[in-house]
Amino acid sequence: MAELAQLDAEGLVVADVGCGSGRTVRALLAAGAGGGCAPAVVHALDHVSALDDDLLADPRVRSRIADLDSPLPWGDGELDRVVSLNAAEHLTDPVAHLAEVHRVLRPGGLCVLAHSDWDTALFTSTDDVLTRQLVDGFTAANPGPGPSDGFMGRKLLALAATGAERGAPWEVVTATSWADPHRRFDDGSLAWKVATGVLAAAQHDPALLARAAGWMEELRALAAAGQFLFAVTDVAVVLRRA
Ligand SMILES: C[S@@+](CC[C@H](N)C(=O)[O-])C[C@H]1O[C@@H](n2cnc3c(N)ncnc32)[C@H](O)[C@@H]1O
Repeated sequence: MAELAQLDAEGLVVADVGCGSGRTVRALLAAGAGGGCAPAVVHALDHVSALDDDLLADPRVRSRIADLDSPLPWGDGELDRVVSLNAAEHLTDPVAHLAEVHRVLRPGGLCVLAHSDWDTALFTSTDDVLTRQLVDGFTAANPGPGPSDGFMGRKLLALAATGAERGAPWEVVTATSWADPHRRFDDGSLAWKVATGVLAAAQHDPALLARAAGWMEELRALAAAGQFLFAVTDVAVVLRRA
């Protein structure tokens, strides 16, 4: 994410919107160690306070508690970079939010808009048909727009294109995607979190739910035996404010 943000000058002011515990904030601050330029300030914005303590104590980090469904708490052209990772699907109006990002970026500033596309979730299982059924149920239950969208990754370019209609046109610098493999399935792991969401989406169908519970146990056993793989396609577009 830090690489995509192209921190190519000293003194940049960056914001991570929907920062969560701050894994992207951490990566941005570390950019200097990789031969790039570390940002002077990273605004870490979320509507809940979940930022790791060491980041809260870092003098370069400004924690902001704010709602991304409201106007952003910066003036016009105040920021050099905005990074948004897996936040868009939670918003009531991602189009309005992206127009706000455009407003707070200086001309030439970059937005890294990135999202997992949950419909592409891959789980190793001995029952591929059930896995397909469960993932389909999960994405059908989360069709977007907001509060969750199982297809958000593939929609990012279309989302950016709507900016032109709102007087907030973007130049698309790059559009990339990759799959991020995970082999763990212990509680709290990414694969476990996504599978838990899949399970929740099966709640309305008692027969499917019973099979899904067994499916979860099987994934755990496969992971313990070293035979489990989870992956999801992530998409990132880098947008420049003209
Ligand atoms: C899936 S997490 C992603 C966190 C982080 N970007 C990451 O990738 O690790 C989504 C984040 O968006 C935040 N969020 C959701 N809706 C929000 C809103 N309306 N305003 C501000 N933050 C919001 C959540 O609190 C959560 O931290």
